[in-house]
Amino acid sequence: MAKKRKSQTTMLDHSAAKVELLGKYLENYLNVLINVDFFSTLQFYDLFCGEGLYPDGKKGSPLIILDEIRKILLKKGAKNIDCYFNDSDTTKIHKLDQVITTKNSDLRGQVQIETSSQDYTNILAKVITKTKTPKSKTFVFIDPYGYKNISINQIKSLLDSRKSEVLIWLPLNHIFRAKYNSKEDAVSNFVEQLISREELEELSHNRINSWTFSEILKDAFQRGVGKEYYVDNFRIKKDKSTLYCMYFFTSHIKGLEKMLAAKWAIDADHGKGWHHEDTLVQMDLFSQSKDKGDTFWADNWRTKLKDFLACNTRTNGELYEFTIRGGFLPKHTNQILKTWQDNGKISVYLSNGDNARKGSFYNTFRYYRDDSSKVKFKLS
Ligand SMILES: C[S@@+](CC[C@H](N)C(=O)[O-])C[C@H]1O[C@@H](n2cnc3c(N)ncnc32)[C@H](O)[C@@H]1O
Repeated sequence: MAKKRKSQTTMLDHSAAKVELLGKYLENYLNVLINVDFFSTLQFYDLFCGEGLYPDGKKGSPLIILDEIRKILLKKGAKNIDCYFNDSDTTKIHKLDQVITTKNSDLRGQVQIETSSQDYTNILAKVITKTKTPKSKTFVFIDPYGYKNISINQIKSLLDSRKSEVLIWLPLNHIFRAKYNSKEDAVSNFVEQLISREELEELSHNRINSWTFSEILKDAFQRGVGKEYYVDNFRIKKDKSTLYCMYFFTSHIKGLEKMLAAKWAIDADHGKGWHHEDTLVQMDLFSQSKDKGDTFWADNWRTKLKDFLACNTRTNGELYEFTIRGGFLPKHTNQILKTWQDNGKISVYLSNGDNARKGSFYNTFRYYRDDSSKVKFKLS
């Protein structure tokens, strides 16, 4: 019998970080969605779900999803909730079915749970159709061991309804190391959908590291899906030489804000990722944060914010979008603005020319949506 890899019998730390992000994101976002009456159905698709419960007792993605659903059902139970868990390995699905029956029976009747053991390519068309269900919101989690047959077009199709979110986990190092090797067809096919060969050659020439590559891939994903979608990434460093990256796609800025909140909850210094403790010294970003405490993000963001506001015509709506697209939360921007306001470096004024109330920046999703030109900012 083939020997199982360790990650199949115990949940490794980096996998725990992965499901922690998943759980935090779902918790944040479900708390918003549950109060949006327009969406009467919430759908969850975990297409590479694994067996649910690891032999060491840790929970994998399907159980994390069910846990978060349970929490919102306790608060407000009026939605239809559908979960679909798939893994090509029938043994794993059998185990998952058992765990759902024994440990999640309280959800039966309230949540429709379906499982299947298919190659995900066989069910993708069905999932894409489901994302178009009227008044539904869909979350798709794609957590493969590799990236064979995963394409940007699939991601685009999953997003096409503009009512879905996709979270995909990629072994960045493998992609990064193998990207120039034409024998690695899966890799070159995957990367070359996003980045041209010429661009790759130039990157190779400039000797970028895998951290930088993760950002380049994010920009390439952004180009691939188009400007109407938001793309974000979260890096997970497993050990000195292995970097994974989660890429998140959404058509809704509020969805992105909730993902950012999850990231910042896990990495309060940079909102960028998780690292194994042993790798700390290896990572320039994290070691800088050790010396500088929590000012690292502020130093970077302050400069960008100053450039953005320099034209003196920016509105609160533009500020919110700039903040979220920049990977920051309104509280980060507001903290900087407050200091500038206290030091007389910025004024915030209403459309009639009066000064806004001190400390009010209207930098929220609600104002972005409903009153995006409530105030303007002027640097002095
Ligand atoms: C990284 S594991 C998923 C771990 C799971 N998300 C968790 O949190 O525990 C990847 C899973 O994909 C399954 N798999 C591999 N190839 C697949 C395919 N073509 N279609 C569907 N599932 C596949 C494997 O059996 C494995 O359980």
